[in-house]
Amino acid sequence: MIVRTEEILFEFDGETYNGFAGESIAAALLRVGVTHLRDAPNSQTPRGMFCVMGVCQECVVEINQRRVEACRTKVSNGLKIKRASNV
Ligand code: FES
Repeated sequence: MIVRTEEILFEFDGETYNGFAGESIAAALLRVGVTHLRDAPNSQTPRGMFCVMGVCQECVVEINQRRVEACRTKVSNGLKIKRASNV
């Protein structure tokens, strides 16, 4: 049996999704079917989670113009997340 925490709403690239307090951004997005978190700087190919433990940086997204690892950042109610821009 899965016991869920409080249900929350967050945004990713302007779309609103349901999440659960305390889960990572990566887990919340994967659960709703979003796997494209950024584009590779050179090839422009879609990137998403790989290691899911904060090592590879493949899951980087932007929150308030700061780049954060989606797998190591908790989702919260009203959080606005953007697909990471290339640097
Ligand atoms: S998936 Fe590797 S750092 Fe997040």
